[in-house]
Amino acid sequence: MTEQPERLVVLHGANLDMLGERPVEHYGSLTLRRLEELVSEEAQRHGWRCLCLHTNHEGSYIELLHKHREEDALVVNPGAWTHYSYAIRDALEIVTCPVAEVHLSNLLAREKWRHHSVISAVVTFTVSGKGSDGYLEAVQRLVDMVASEKEAKGRATSGEV
Ligand code: DQA
Repeated sequence: MTEQPERLVVLHGANLDMLGERPVEHYGSLTLRRLEELVSEEAQRHGWRCLCLHTNHEGSYIELLHKHREEDALVVNPGAWTHYSYAIRDALEIVTCPVAEVHLSNLLAREKWRHHSVISAVVTFTVSGKGSDGYLEAVQRLVDMVASEKEAKGRATSGEV
């Protein structure tokens, strides 16, 4: 059987479908569709497949995390849920692959209630305040991480030290 290319799943939450109409000084002017295209292109450039999903419903977001918990890697931007959803935090805790938490805006430079992320402790790394470039950086880091894990596993099974 031929091996399938790795797959990245990108999960956008509350209000991110309104990018392009949200404050440009925080979120830039790209629409969600354009942002998803850029992320997919970056994943494809590395030979990965990419699936981008969005919901404005917290329960649906949790179900998406359950469904995709064993992908090769996830990028999550839960929007405002980042700051208070312990349910999303708990769903992320059982994800088995590397997870990048990405925010377009710089959370620490905004209102105090945005400074704290309840999910940061259960993701692999966080990128904040770099706009769409932050997503591309996250893809690159996830791809590198998965590649080196795979390499290490290969070495272990071939008995190399
Ligand atoms: C956001 C930051 C959140 O505080 C905000 O509620 C969002 C988007 C970001 O990408 O910068 O909806 O996650």
